[in-house]
Amino acid sequence: MALDNKNNISVGKSHYQDSSFRQLTGRAEYIDDIPLSENTLHGALILSEIPSGMITSIETEKAKKFDPSITVITAKDIPGRNDIAPIFADEPIFAEKEVTYVGQPIGLIVASSMERARAAVNEVEIVYKKYKTPILDLDLAFKKKNFFLKPIHFERGKANEKIKQAPHKIKDSFSMGGQDHFYLETHIALAIPHENSEFTIWSSTQHPTEVQHGVSNVLNIPAAKISSKVRRLGGGFGGKESQSTIYAAIAALGAYILDKPVKLRLNRKDDMASSGKRHDFEVKYSVGFNKKGKIKGLDITLLSNAGNVCDLSAPVMSRALTHLDNCYSFKDFTARGYICKTNTVSNTAFRGFGGPQGMLAIETILERVSRFLGIDLDALRRENYYSAKNGIKTPYGQIVKNIKIEKIINEMETFAGLEKRKLLVERFNTSQINKNQPYRKGIAFMPAKFGISFNKVSLNQAGALVHVYTDGSVRLNHGGTEMGQGLFIKVAQVVSECFNIPIDYVHISGTNTDEVPNTSATAASSGSDINGMAAWKAATVIKQRMLKHASKVFQKPPSSIEFKNGLILSGNKSMTFRELAFSCWENRISLSSTGFYKTPKISWDQEKFKGSPYFYFTWGAAVSEAIIDIDTGESRILRADIIQDCGSSLNPLIDRGQIEGGFIQGIGWLTCEELYFNPEGKLLTLGPSTYKIPGSRDVPPEFNIKLLENTPNEEKTIFRSKAVGEPPLLLSISHFLALKNAVSMASETSNADLLNAPATPSKILAAVHNDHSM
Ligand code: MTE
Ligand code: HPA
Ligand code: MOS
Repeated sequence: MALDNKNNISVGKSHYQDSSFRQLTGRAEYIDDIPLSENTLHGALILSEIPSGMITSIETEKAKKFDPSITVITAKDIPGRNDIAPIFADEPIFAEKEVTYVGQPIGLIVASSMERARAAVNEVEIVYKKYKTPILDLDLAFKKKNFFLKPIHFERGKANEKIKQAPHKIKDSFSMGGQDHFYLETHIALAIPHENSEFTIWSSTQHPTEVQHGVSNVLNIPAAKISSKVRRLGGGFGGKESQSTIYAAIAALGAYILDKPVKLRLNRKDDMASSGKRHDFEVKYSVGFNKKGKIKGLDITLLSNAGNVCDLSAPVMSRALTHLDNCYSFKDFTARGYICKTNTVSNTAFRGFGGPQGMLAIETILERVSRFLGIDLDALRRENYYSAKNGIKTPYGQIVKNIKIEKIINEMETFAGLEKRKLLVERFNTSQINKNQPYRKGIAFMPAKFGISFNKVSLNQAGALVHVYTDGSVRLNHGGTEMGQGLFIKVAQVVSECFNIPIDYVHISGTNTDEVPNTSATAASSGSDINGMAAWKAATVIKQRMLKHASKVFQKPPSSIEFKNGLILSGNKSMTFRELAFSCWENRISLSSTGFYKTPKISWDQEKFKGSPYFYFTWGAAVSEAIIDIDTGESRILRADIIQDCGSSLNPLIDRGQIEGGFIQGIGWLTCEELYFNPEGKLLTLGPSTYKIPGSRDVPPEFNIKLLENTPNEEKTIFRSKAVGEPPLLLSISHFLALKNAVSMASETSNADLLNAPATPSKILAAVHNDHSM
């Protein structure tokens, strides 16, 4: 895509991510690059080696003999509360008496270098009293009713009655795996103590305010004394929404006790062992339907693996449950959600936040029904799509407005030529079978609808702070964090548009709780929606003041004055933006303002599981074509065609990058990223040699992406744009369905029902050979 002139103003133009050149050339500063003062110390974590038990003693004598300069810090050194829970309580930074998963932080060793700290950790010995029966999987947790919170249950219509009356029914279950975030930059924090119990905390976090709260609780120091900062993250993907607080608070505790700066940077192994991942889910369902595939009744139970503490598992489950409908109208529908407590690492936010699990559940069910009936999956979907005829109310009560399914399907047919390619795939498979060759292709379409807003109403707020200086330069700060998704450039574009000044007048600054307080996590894809609007409001306040002053200077009504490309125009007179800023200062007019935004129109009753939690929906669809080798189980994606609704895109280049990245990250979740825990509950996939993330060769060789055309957001979002961060990940489900499609055509005896995510070669082989032992 052609890059627009960098001085172009501004919204809707394809500007690069704000620091992409600095990132490429190594000039962008990450936390590990911050120059350290000489007295800085370094930490390494002592992690639990057993999944559940009591700590009888922590033996540090050997470690201290090994390196007398070290300090060992444990829960008993905490001056405040050993709790950083984002929503509930009792989520410790260090295990105190009990350990509840392998990899749980028990203590910190602080030394003069990271290497020395890590070496000393190996000399620490923990004595435990092991509990007999750790709960390591969903089945056992469910059997033992080991849950967090009350199970969620909601119902619309009479699902079970309708299932009973339906001409056909299926009852079954399946599971899907979790996913490690595998951001390039592992968890890291640098805590610096100052006079008067003040602290600066640099941490790689999506949620500086929660870091501030966590440190405040753990140190028992008021939030106002804690300055929480981050310029950029080397990827977050949800993994640094809540859990970065743990590491920040641990570093802060070290700094508090030693009164020196402490840096804690995890190596990949400790990061993967101690921090949470995408929730693995199990799905149990009964579905009743007629011979055309119209769903008459649906009863779905979701089990999620929360791990040892609740963290964000409740809203993750809520989002999973509110995405079970995807694009389909189910009038007789009931669902339950059980948040299972296990002795594994606490799972957390991950791009899609339960949405992908909910949508994979329903798509797997519909695919199963279509095979049962021997009808085309897309024909079955047409019987069920939200529409005036089928209904537009979700099972949880929100009305689905501005449905874009038909528009997308029509555009997709010309874009991807799906129907013709289905025939080509069948022909290919027939010829492979006839020639006794091992390749089979599969193809599948996948529509997606994703709800935009945090599904907890209070989180949908944002603040910004804009200063105009007398030289006409503008400093922008807001509550959002930059993790590579291009939020900073989008918000800067909004400010440049407001003043109609070139984008390089706007200086982007790092996120910090001193300038904009009480912020939400940069999450739920809502970063540009809410921070963009807050920045627009802040800039508009200043612009109005400047306009009023310009009106005096020009002696013309404000309505006749125009801000245009760095100039202020009035009839045949003009001055520069800089001249006006200076003149405002001379006349004692404030050139600084905050802006605040809260998302309108949303409501949610978690108890009744009812309301309109989402301000709007984004729509998208993908067609994937896959190939498998039935002798080895290996698979590839051959082609993907994606159409994504970005409303009126703020920045098409950034949005395209989000679509590519999100889709490929989803392919990883569904095909190659397999978390393997041994029978003792220890994660063995602790690095890239054992945990396979998608690489450049996993990108489809033919990869066509299009933003849905002429679709400004019907809701009043910033410049009528739509959120894009998470939705494209859901579209990767098309590839999983394409793999199922290939397996179903592999041979007469293959069994696509056996194919659960991730569709690794061994699972594909098992499904091809109908081998239930896998
Ligand atoms: N893109 C990059 N490059 N790195 C990331 O860590 N996180 C994703 C998405 N895109 C992420 C990303 C997730 S989980 C979310 S919620 C959104 O970005 C958050 O940013 P936004 O609200 O500004 O879209
Ligand atoms: N997405 C991300 N984080 C959240 C959400 C959500 O929907 N709700 C609460 N925290
Ligand atoms: Mo994204 S999972 O909401 O950080």
